[in-house]
Amino acid sequence: MRTDSLPRTCPRVLLLFSLLLCAIAFAAGQTRVTVHADQGKDTISRNIYGHFSEHLGRCIYGGFYVGEASTGIPNTRGMRNDVVAAVRKLRIPVLRWPGGCFADTYHWKDGVGPKEQRPSMVNVWWGGTTEDNSFGTHEFLDLCEQLGAEPYFSGNVGSGTVEELKHWVQYVNSPSGNPLASLRKQNGHEEPWKVRYWGIGNEAWGCGGEMRAEHYVDVYRTFVTFMSSGWGNRGPFRIASGAAGGDYHWTEVLMRDIPLSLLDGVALHHYAVIDWNKKGSASEFTTAQYFASMREALRMETFVQNHIAIMDKYDPKKKVALVVDEWGGWYDTEPGTNPSFLYQQNTMRDAMIAGVTLNTFNNHCDRVRMANLAQTVNVLQAVVLTDGPKMLVTPTYHVMEMYTVHHDALMLPVETGSLPCIAGKDTLQAISVSASRDREGFTNISLVNIDPVERHEIEVTVGGKSFASVAGRILAGRTPQDHNTFEDPQKIHPVDFKDVKTTGTGLRLTLPPCSVVVLHCR
Ligand code: AHR
Repeated sequence: MRTDSLPRTCPRVLLLFSLLLCAIAFAAGQTRVTVHADQGKDTISRNIYGHFSEHLGRCIYGGFYVGEASTGIPNTRGMRNDVVAAVRKLRIPVLRWPGGCFADTYHWKDGVGPKEQRPSMVNVWWGGTTEDNSFGTHEFLDLCEQLGAEPYFSGNVGSGTVEELKHWVQYVNSPSGNPLASLRKQNGHEEPWKVRYWGIGNEAWGCGGEMRAEHYVDVYRTFVTFMSSGWGNRGPFRIASGAAGGDYHWTEVLMRDIPLSLLDGVALHHYAVIDWNKKGSASEFTTAQYFASMREALRMETFVQNHIAIMDKYDPKKKVALVVDEWGGWYDTEPGTNPSFLYQQNTMRDAMIAGVTLNTFNNHCDRVRMANLAQTVNVLQAVVLTDGPKMLVTPTYHVMEMYTVHHDALMLPVETGSLPCIAGKDTLQAISVSASRDREGFTNISLVNIDPVERHEIEVTVGGKSFASVAGRILAGRTPQDHNTFEDPQKIHPVDFKDVKTTGTGLRLTLPPCSVVVLHCR
């Protein structure tokens, strides 16, 4: 939760150069994209499509979990059936929990055992609400099983101890032979769960302990040393708390001072926020605010490239993954809701953010091997919103669903020449593209047009092949502000896309303003 320190003003000459490129692209009237279908070598990990769920506002309580006693909302062992069914359709591969900032205040032993004996705590980060610990380790792992997702635990480093984290690992992963495995069995779970993904703290530079990178690396090394017992062949996947946006010093120190043998992932957080002091409404925003949000979202590309360059220096074989375990748009909370609960509407602007961000992750899948949207339900850029027993899915949900074709597919490098641009305070490329080939041999291409006004014609050349057939779906709004409401939950949803043709060398299509298109070609 802090702004990053990268200077935002491009040198004037770069701006002029990009304006010139835009002018050339407009003059040409058509945008050319090349998909190198014959050059794929890296797989897009499905974990890029991961999610994040924190004990914050109504994400867990009321969102995923209503408790077994709920009579008004159908549930399975307390998990809302409607939410689980909707999220299952996204085939989310991995779910991060219990925070966020909450994680570094969370003591896991408070959340196991008979519910009536679990102590309560105050959720100091998110509104001072009472956390009764009724949703704890067993409940979270049950939720993951219901969703078909792998769990990703975020360990308490800030206010927890080395022993506490070591015990959590033993509790969930040891088959037997120690008091923690016995406690798990006593609490009703005979078999270990084999939780693989472990975050060693969260935002250690901020809510996770206000540490300097130089201090955190030693803390990290100590914690991971003692959590590694009881693992068999498949060791824990240890993720170091990472930088905010453009804090390259943080990544440099992590990569320099943690031996590669102790490190599997380095995190990165970036939220598309216009201004931390003046974020603006989630659904009523001006064109200038829309451009500002898109500018912030598109910075993810720069951050990813620059953090990867640092990682490449210390880890040229790309052993360590870049894990973007918090990303999304962040606005003012909805009027009339608790400001600490971070509940916000989700519009076509968010669909644009999701489309361009996921394209960035796909295109850098040799290093970005996990990402977690913040957050799944009722918090920030949610895919699902609930209101009592009512539920709706958001434009971001639809983008995530349309992009499932990229899960574990072979990434096909995309080359874009000069792209058309939209000009706000500075110049932004209007079109974003990524492509992959799936196991059935289909080439799937996702294209986003963030331009709120202009449609753009795209000529896609596919190196090494032509297509006999193409089918597609589109998510589009009349305006970037369009969104689903509980009164009109189907207003924004994907439909068949017809404005595409095969050509001798690939495809020709027209992207309407503010749209995401996914093409399925053979
Ligand atoms: O997602 C909300 C908060 O944003 C998380 O708790 C924290 O990690 C980040 O600052």
